[in-house]
Amino acid sequence: MQTKLEKIDSKNLDEVLEKAAKIIKAGGLVAFPTETVYGLGADAMNETACDKIFEVKRRKKDNPLIVHVSDIDMVDELVKEVTDDQKILMQRMWPGPMTLIFKASDKINPTVTAGGNTVAIRMPKDEISLKLIEKAKTPIAAPSANISTRPSPTNAGDVMSDLDGSIEMVIDGGDSKIGIESTVIDLSERPYTILRPGYYTSEDFEKYVGPVVYDSALRDQDKIPKSPGQKYKHYAPKTKMIVITGDRENFKGYIKELEKDYDSIGYILTKQTADLLNLDKVRIISDEADLEEYSHNIFTYIRSMDRENFSLIVLEGVKEEGIGIGIMNRIRKSCSNNIIYL
Ligand code: TXA
Ligand code: MG
Repeated sequence: MQTKLEKIDSKNLDEVLEKAAKIIKAGGLVAFPTETVYGLGADAMNETACDKIFEVKRRKKDNPLIVHVSDIDMVDELVKEVTDDQKILMQRMWPGPMTLIFKASDKINPTVTAGGNTVAIRMPKDEISLKLIEKAKTPIAAPSANISTRPSPTNAGDVMSDLDGSIEMVIDGGDSKIGIESTVIDLSERPYTILRPGYYTSEDFEKYVGPVVYDSALRDQDKIPKSPGQKYKHYAPKTKMIVITGDRENFKGYIKELEKDYDSIGYILTKQTADLLNLDKVRIISDEADLEEYSHNIFTYIRSMDRENFSLIVLEGVKEEGIGIGIMNRIRKSCSNNIIYL
C-alpha cells in the first residue's frame, strides 16, 4: 500500500481532511496529529477497521483503544451512563489531554473495548483532529501511531518511519505540543483512579471531583495494572538506555565508569547538567525547570538518538512532580526500569 503524506498548510486544511474523512468512512486508517501524540485512527463503529489498527501496530488484542470525539454529545451513544462527576470533568477539561473511562454501551464493538465492559473516551484539543472527527461524522478509535513497544510519535516523520506502506494516509500537522499521551482516569468506581499519568495530575482533577489516587500498580511491579497497556514493554529504543537522576554532582564519576564499558554513548541531558559535565554527543532536552519542554521533546529525542547507533543512550530523568510524574512513567518503561539514582 502507498501511504499518502499530506502536509497541512493554511489553505488545504479542509481539502485534506475531506480526503482523510473519506478514508475513515471507508474503513481505512489515517494517522493524525493531536496535542499529545499522533494517533492512528479508524472508524470506532467499524469493527473490521478497528481490527486493522491491531494488525498494523502489532498490538496485543487485550489492550483496548481510546475513542476520540469532537463533541460531548457524541459520548451518549458510546456509554451506558454518565455520572455527575464525569459530566463535570468533560465540561471543565475537554477538549484536552484527559481520557475518561465509562461503562460501555452495547453498540461499541469488542475490538475497541478488548472485550471489557468499559470504554475510554477523549476529546483532543487540536483543530486538525477535531475537524477530522466532525467531517468523518463518527467517533474515531486511535491509539498512538507507533508500532507497539516503540516510542510514541510526536511528528509525522516518526509516524512514517513506523507505518509507511501499511496505512492509507498520514496527516502532517507539525509537532505535538505536549509530547506524552493523555492522562487516563477512571471515575467509574471509587476511589477515583489515574490509570496512566500524563499532562494532568491528581490535583488538577481533585479541585472538581474530590480525592483521586494513582493506580498502585504504576509503581509496584508485582501488581496488575488496571489499564492493560501499562503492563507491556513500551516506548523502547532499540539501543540500550540508562536513566540517571538525583544529584548531578555525582553524575561525573558514574559516567566515567560507564565510558569504560561502552564504545559510544549518546547523552540526553538538561541544560544545567550539560553545562556542568561538558561531554561530547549531548542533546539538551530542556532547562531543568521546564518540564513542559522536556515532555514536548522526550519521544522525538529518544527516537533520534536511537537512529545514531550508539552502544548506549544515557538520559537524565526529572523530578516526579506535575507532568514529571507522567514523564517518569514513560521513561521507566523506555529503559526497562534501568534507572540509576545518584
Ligand atoms: O494521548 C493519547 O491518549 C493518545 C492520543 C492519540 O489520543 N492515545 C493513546 O492511545 O495514547 P494508546 O492506545 O497508545 O493508549 C491507550 C491507553 C492504554 O494504556 C490502554 O490500555 C488504556 O489507554 N485504555 C484504553 N481503554 C481502556 C479501558 N477501557 N480501561 C482501561 N484502560 C484503557
Ligand atoms: Mg501507545
